[in-house]
Amino acid sequence: MEEISKEINSRRTFAIISHPDAGKTTLTEKLLLYGGAIHLAGSVKARKTQKHAVSDWMEIEKQRGISVTSSVLQFDYQGYRVNILDTPGHQDFSEDTYRTLMAADSAVMLIDVAKGVEEQTKKLFRVCKQRGIPIFTFVNKLDRFGRNPFELMEEIEKVLGIRAYPMNWPVGIDGNYKGVYNRKLAQVELFDKDSSHGQKAVASTAGRVEDPSFRALLGEDVHQALCDDIALLDMAGDEFDPDKVARGELTPMFFGSAMTNFGVQPFLEEFLRLAPPPKPRLSDQGLIDPHSDVFSAFVFKIQANMNPAHRDRIAFMRICSGKFARGMAVYHVQSKKQVKLGQPQQFLAQERAIVEEAYPGDIIGVFDPGIFGIGDTLCQPGHQFCFQDFPVFPPEQFARVQAKDTMKRKQFDKGMTQLTQEGAVQVFRQPGMLESYIIGAVGSLQFDVLQYRLKQEYGVDILMHHLPFGLARWLEGDNLNPKALKGIDNGMLLEDLKGRPLVLITNEWQLNWAVERNPGVEFRVAPSDARSVNLARREQA
Ligand code: G4P
Repeated sequence: MEEISKEINSRRTFAIISHPDAGKTTLTEKLLLYGGAIHLAGSVKARKTQKHAVSDWMEIEKQRGISVTSSVLQFDYQGYRVNILDTPGHQDFSEDTYRTLMAADSAVMLIDVAKGVEEQTKKLFRVCKQRGIPIFTFVNKLDRFGRNPFELMEEIEKVLGIRAYPMNWPVGIDGNYKGVYNRKLAQVELFDKDSSHGQKAVASTAGRVEDPSFRALLGEDVHQALCDDIALLDMAGDEFDPDKVARGELTPMFFGSAMTNFGVQPFLEEFLRLAPPPKPRLSDQGLIDPHSDVFSAFVFKIQANMNPAHRDRIAFMRICSGKFARGMAVYHVQSKKQVKLGQPQQFLAQERAIVEEAYPGDIIGVFDPGIFGIGDTLCQPGHQFCFQDFPVFPPEQFARVQAKDTMKRKQFDKGMTQLTQEGAVQVFRQPGMLESYIIGAVGSLQFDVLQYRLKQEYGVDILMHHLPFGLARWLEGDNLNPKALKGIDNGMLLEDLKGRPLVLITNEWQLNWAVERNPGVEFRVAPSDARSVNLARREQA
């Protein structure tokens, strides 16, 4: 028990959420660098851009030179075992990106100092906020010209609805920064201009803000501006309240530059201190304590066809309680079967390795004999509980698909049914159009995967036509007549596979327009009677 508790308390499992190009790869790399998991910056980046890597991962991954998998990077730092969950962005933004957040105990929101809160960050933030996990903010690229930090705080509050507590504060005037002021230690840290292209840790100089040597070093104007900012923050800003941080109501905000290492180490250390270890998780039998000696885990991602020759699937699971040992037999609650977790793998900084043991907060990938589904629970035989179901994430991209060869309709229908059961895409029908389906997904990568798998596994070539919609809303209400809806001339009326009506709409503005014109009609992001991935999957099975 004591051993388990020690392991659990040292775990910090988190995801970095950001908009593409904010610097997630660079920051991840620097964290690995400080953690000693890599020795030279550039390794992660090289992997990101590596084309045609020799690997047994999905063929599509090789073709596109991107990682389709959200895995985890693990390293040790000052007694902590750090698990960074990789949340795919760019073109590979998908349901998996959201689902990965279900496995995180906290999130680091990375913001570009010049750009502020961007679209993808907003979407990911919403999922974290719904889960109520602590969110830490790292404002990146401070080495460049950037926006006023007060303005950024205000934007975070207005756009995301969370208060921010700056842990440190940029030193400089008009977006021309020289270092940061650490509020807790009341000291200024100026960072050397990077001499090694950010490949090594940099030294910082410390001293109190009122220290005359800093006045001399910073210059009168910069020093005065800093003293004024700090006085304002102390007077008008929020109190630092760890309980609010834990509930996701207050975000500790850090400023730095991942590229030049500026502020990265102080961030890492403070973050690890404040971020929570694995917490109890809700199941249908109440909260499951991670410190319990009953093993439990849930599946948050399934990667199909990692090895096309064997049609392998790997299920990624997050351990929630007890200790995992290699070769262990567990009870799969959804199929009511006992399964042996074969070849458990952990995804370390640079490569995969077989895991001998793992603890709550850790992520392992196991071979899936084709029985696991997203959100499924595994627990020690003799126990039966189910972790809370995953929410359905509303699709954001849409396309019409049909079989190229109409003679292949049967295989096409079969493939569509089976692949949608896995939860990769959502499928709809346009009334009267029997030849084609309308598919929806969070990111368009899923469409490519669907196209690829229909060809590989069902021998069907498809025609795909992307549709210019960004939102799907299920229509509900008494006496609803979808055809009589007003203000949706640019939309598309559909039915899901259970015959529930929905409409595809271009954007939020058009949605508001339609909502205003149709009092009594509810425009829902998911149908009110299907709340989760698991339910949807079971309904369709
Ligand atoms: P991502 O994973 O979030 O998409 O971002 P990534 O780390 O790939 O960074 C995107 C771009 O921003 C890269 O430039 C990277 O070097 C730069 N960047 C990251 N952190 C900082 C920072 O702290 N300061 C500055 N000035 N730039 C930063 P790139 O030109 O696209 O690539 P590269 O040629 O530098 O590799």
